[in-house]
Amino acid sequence: MKKLLSCFTGLVAAGTLAASPAWADDIDTKVESLLQQMTLEEKVGQLNQFTDFWDVTGPAPTGEEQEVKYELIKKGLIGSMLNAVGTEDVKTLQTFAVENSRLGIPMIFGYDVIHGHKTIFPLPLAETASWDLDMMEQTARVAAVEASAQGLNWTFAPMIDVGRDPRWGRVMEGSGEDPYLGGKVAIARVNGLQGDDLGAADTIAATLKHFAGYGFGEAGKDYNRADVGTVTLFNTILPPFKAAIDEANPRTVMNAFNTVNGIPATGDEYLQRDILKGEWGFDGFVISDWGSIEEMVDHGFAEDEREAARLAIKAGSDMDMESYAYLENLESLVESGEVDVALIDDAVRRILRVKHELGLFEDPYRYIDPEREETLLMSDQHLDVALKMAERSVVLLKNDGALLPLQAGERVALIGALAADKDSPLGNWRAQGEESSAVSLVEGFAAAGLNFSFSNGVDVEVGDANFASEVVVNTDDRTGMDQAIETARSADKVVLVLGEDALQSGEGRSRADIGFPGLQQELLEKIVAVNPNVVLVVMSGRPLVLTWADENVPTIVQAWHLGHQSGHALTNVLTGAYNPSGKLPMTFPRSVGQLPIYYDYLNTGRPGPRKEVFWQHYIDEDNAPLYPFGHGLSYTDFKYDRLRVRQADEGFEVSVRVRNTGKAAGEEVVQLYIRDHVASVSRPVRQLKGFEKVSLDPRQAQRVTFQLTSEELGFYNGRGEFVVEPGDFDVFVGGSSAATLSDTFTLKR
Ligand code: GLC
Repeated sequence: MKKLLSCFTGLVAAGTLAASPAWADDIDTKVESLLQQMTLEEKVGQLNQFTDFWDVTGPAPTGEEQEVKYELIKKGLIGSMLNAVGTEDVKTLQTFAVENSRLGIPMIFGYDVIHGHKTIFPLPLAETASWDLDMMEQTARVAAVEASAQGLNWTFAPMIDVGRDPRWGRVMEGSGEDPYLGGKVAIARVNGLQGDDLGAADTIAATLKHFAGYGFGEAGKDYNRADVGTVTLFNTILPPFKAAIDEANPRTVMNAFNTVNGIPATGDEYLQRDILKGEWGFDGFVISDWGSIEEMVDHGFAEDEREAARLAIKAGSDMDMESYAYLENLESLVESGEVDVALIDDAVRRILRVKHELGLFEDPYRYIDPEREETLLMSDQHLDVALKMAERSVVLLKNDGALLPLQAGERVALIGALAADKDSPLGNWRAQGEESSAVSLVEGFAAAGLNFSFSNGVDVEVGDANFASEVVVNTDDRTGMDQAIETARSADKVVLVLGEDALQSGEGRSRADIGFPGLQQELLEKIVAVNPNVVLVVMSGRPLVLTWADENVPTIVQAWHLGHQSGHALTNVLTGAYNPSGKLPMTFPRSVGQLPIYYDYLNTGRPGPRKEVFWQHYIDEDNAPLYPFGHGLSYTDFKYDRLRVRQADEGFEVSVRVRNTGKAAGEEVVQLYIRDHVASVSRPVRQLKGFEKVSLDPRQAQRVTFQLTSEELGFYNGRGEFVVEPGDFDVFVGGSSAATLSDTFTLKR
């Protein structure tokens, strides 16, 4: 088939797409005039971000280290602080900068508001399982309202690293394995955080992170090398960033700790200047990840800190988070002629522009309103949003024999330490969420008046890990195991809650074995042995290996870490007060040996199964996952038929009828996948290209229609060029990536 390389400059600089609004000229004028007044030392000062104490809800910290920082702030040599939270602390620090420094340039205050600020929502991966973009925008909006009420004007979120290896602890922080879904979620979250007016007191600047390839760390080890080809970089890793920059205008990007094909992302000029700032026209600023500039010495990419500073500023890292490399070296690098002051000016312009957009020059204390701090945090309204989001994040993986929903009056044995755990539901990165402040499942059951008895089973961890320490897993204390078994024996049903402590996923918490930690598998098997009517509830920050459970337990619910309203949300799902609607944003493997595993794989030259051994497979494991991407059940049934594909003005229109053929009202995520039969690079066997969440009463039907533009059928080839090639495509529509309802269409040149 003749190939027509119709090269869509899909990378056309976004900046040329829309003329800048009038105020932008005004801001640029103001930025230029300020820049002219600044000394080199003051310019370099803007490129530094320091951390405040971790827990700054108390009085502004003192001590030798802080005195040094205060002096630098008063001299205007710190452009930003992170981890300074609370109107009192932020006001103190901002006053130093604005009232004492020569030019009074305000600082910008950043913080990791990853899934909620004071009101904690489900993990970002869990929220993504709702496939509910409106809800995800709402939770981001609430997070911004609460963060800004505590003096913050910037968050290092959303994390949008595509992740395909659940051994990596930070899959909890992202949106899973698919770039299309990840891009849509990124747009929703940036819009929620930044709102319609970045200068308003209740909106904050978003950060797309980590640019780039952090989720492709070899062997799922954090901070590890990412070796990826051009086709993977452009078709899988970069699309969520490009989608968010094109559609939602995030004001900052954070780079990454890892190397990308041997080059540390922090020092990667091709990624940061050629692609991000050049081809994509990103006009915000890039912040390094914590210390990642200086870490280029450890990478063996920079001789010393001075060289690291030179390489980083040259590569387009505008602000230095906590490595001090810029503060200690940039001035002399400019004076020696090794760094062109134009690079410094470009970085300063970008930072000053965002500070203007946030209204910080107009009013440096705009985000400091004790009245808002007093009244807005964890309001009932915010907690209601958290409940709705948590309900929608739960995924029903299997429900043989309709063990769920629980029926009124049933005697239920509620077993497992995580069922009573009020802290783990808050997840790994809980910002200002109070420790152990979540509603536990025990509390949820009690509030709902269920007839249950609780038994702890076995502890997951020994002691109580904190943010900077590792969890010590309980591997030998079986206290409570026998009692739990007896509790199970006499119950009509068992709800067994197993999984991970909040701090067994997240940064620095990769796992080589992704089964149930400690003695939990033993507890599971002993419970099943005395009562087969087990509902297994899995609380985790990642997909776990649930293969034994799938073979021996009739009902399994993936409950992630659901935030403050965990107990009530899970109770509502288990009792049917809310019919589960979640769908997996990541593939669940049968064994860790299958990793990385994902749905949009390539067919290879030896697809199977075949009678002989010479095809791509394991001799000791299936190729198929345990649960595929997009999988999730309901208490009702949905049927798909009447798939139609027709040529439209621009591309194709795909429509399908979906019916609720069961007895309960429910929501279904209708998913559209394509397959390009033949192309100039091998294309995945399936690719998500559309989804819509519909709500249907029993016997109700709806026709769902997708527009599939020819550009959405395109891809980046091995030279990083975006191409749309004519040819035959399959289209699949259904309730998961395993959908079988299909049709074929031909894209003509
Ligand atoms: C961390 C993370 C990054 C976070 C930053 C500030 O190491 O990698 O995502 O925003 O440091 O806490």
